[in-house]
Amino acid sequence: MKVKFFDYPLQFKIHEKEYMEIIKNVLSRGHYILCEDLKRFEENLAHYVGTTYAVGVGNCTEALLLSLLAADIRLGDEVITVAHTFVATAEAIKFLGAKPVFVDIAEDHNMNVDLVEAAITEKTKAIIPVQLNGRICSKMDKLVDIAKRRNITLIEDSAQSLGAKYRGKMAGTFGLAGNFSFYPAKLLGTFGDAGAVITNDEEFAEKIRMLRNHGRGSGTEVGMWGLNCRMDNLHAAILDFKLKLLPKWLDRRREIASLYNDGLSEIRFLRLPPAPEDDSEYYDVYQNYEIEAEQRDELVEFLHRQGIEAVLQWGGKGVHQFTALGCGTTALPRTDELFKKALMLPMYPELTQKQITYIVETIRDFYHSNN
Ligand SMILES: Cc1ncc(COP(=O)(O)O)c(C=O)c1O
Repeated sequence: MKVKFFDYPLQFKIHEKEYMEIIKNVLSRGHYILCEDLKRFEENLAHYVGTTYAVGVGNCTEALLLSLLAADIRLGDEVITVAHTFVATAEAIKFLGAKPVFVDIAEDHNMNVDLVEAAITEKTKAIIPVQLNGRICSKMDKLVDIAKRRNITLIEDSAQSLGAKYRGKMAGTFGLAGNFSFYPAKLLGTFGDAGAVITNDEEFAEKIRMLRNHGRGSGTEVGMWGLNCRMDNLHAAILDFKLKLLPKWLDRRREIASLYNDGLSEIRFLRLPPAPEDDSEYYDVYQNYEIEAEQRDELVEFLHRQGIEAVLQWGGKGVHQFTALGCGTTALPRTDELFKKALMLPMYPELTQKQITYIVETIRDFYHSNN
């Protein structure tokens, strides 16, 4: 049996008719840039996450960059984040001349909030928790409190967590802004790149709208230096259709996570993510099902030989481990340990029961015959 890490053609095929109608409809109207489909998607996205505003941009890297720009992060400022993230988080900070300051991660693979206060200096202007793998970081309340008390801007990299909740509150809504990615493999993905910033702050939302469109507001007057970071109207129309399917897809991801947890929990060589039903305060959406495994490299090789695509997140390195970036000065023992053991199993709504059983049994076989 073959199990792909993500199956783009299969996902397309399931709703091919609807997608083709949407594409034809947008193209025949000739509505490509900043049109009503984008406006509608922004309204529906804001409604879904419960914020007043959502602003569509080209991708989540731009969402992060524009959020930091609009929050006045500048040369010499420090921004606290984690190294177990896509390079984009640090990239956005770096491109404004600011410095990414990494704190270590906790057991849930997210920012260890207990380490944040010690990393704050007089230059700290923002904190970016990364809500990784579809889970909001533990002690989010404490982080919100630290940011408020120390007058530091809180911006979430919620690229991987659209729909995730902690105590009923959605990822991306805990601070000034949340940033989402609609990269094809994301929880809500389009057929290319797209992203969004969400916020309740009217002035901030207007700044993002201007920054994404060459510093222009609704007319042609250029009110500030900006860029071209617009979300294509076509992507917005596709995403607006897919947004309606998202709750069903998230439920299916949670079902799959439960099946993995049930099937793998007795293998003592593995550490699994919390199961969906483990803690009623969290609604995890499993962008990734990232486990920690003894004999990780051998296991990955075995899975590949059996036709199962398991993947190491970010190619198996944290941002601090890419030497060309020069960010490797801080000791991050838990992050380093994780990168020796972490791997992601296939996780997408279209996975079948048969495929899941096959993956579970193949992992069991591996540890049975190697120990
Ligand atoms: C945690 C995280 N941050 C940022 C990004 C960047 O998103 P995009 O590819 O839409 O720019 C990603 C995408 O992989 C991500 O996973």
